[in-house]
Amino acid sequence: MSPITLLALSGSLRSASYNTAAIVALQSLAPAYIEIVIGSIAQLPLFNPDLEGQHIPALDELVSALNQADGLIIASPEYAHGISGPMKNALDWLVGGVEFPYKPIMLINTSPRAQHALDALKEVLTTMSGNIIAEACVAIPLLSSELDADGISGDRELSKTLLSALEEFRVAIEAERSA
Ligand SMILES: Cc1cc2nc3c(=O)[nH]c(=O)nc-3n(C[C@H](O)[C@H](O)[C@H](O)COP(=O)(O)O)c2cc1C
Repeated sequence: MSPITLLALSGSLRSASYNTAAIVALQSLAPAYIEIVIGSIAQLPLFNPDLEGQHIPALDELVSALNQADGLIIASPEYAHGISGPMKNALDWLVGGVEFPYKPIMLINTSPRAQHALDALKEVLTTMSGNIIAEACVAIPLLSSELDADGISGDRELSKTLLSALEEFRVAIEAERSA
């Protein structure tokens, strides 16, 4: 297998976030040839087009990590039927760049009832010319589970679901590489 690097972003800033736990679990479960780098969006300033082109360390880091990644993994919660503010803010910062378009994307939905935010996220990502890989999008019922990353990676069903979605993602990325 040729090595693959993926950037994973959580749309939650909460310390006990299920979304963050899901990507940390996936990072630990991933086979050796798939490196999952967990990026941070917490330090990004609120999006302001007037600041575009200025030196913003948190944005430079995010853009560099995205540039080096073969694909993007997003796990983001629903707040009041919408995309989380931090995630929408991060995406707005990426709209004007060249790194995002056509990037393969895997979505992890940690609350299968949260359909509004998922639909809105897909709409935004598609508008940004992201390449959502449907077979790699997965829903895992973590809400109220009290599971942390170790609990998720230690759970047979959850880890199996996450890993098979990751495998679908790898296959799609490989197929696009050789197209
Ligand atoms: C202010 C607020 C609004 C929320 N609105 C919704 C909602 O509209 N639909 C939903 O399914 N869950 C909603 N939730 C539940 C969160 O999506 C849920 O707690 C999720 O686990 C948060 O993500 P995290 O665990 O990664 O921090 C809301 C939670 C908060 C705090």
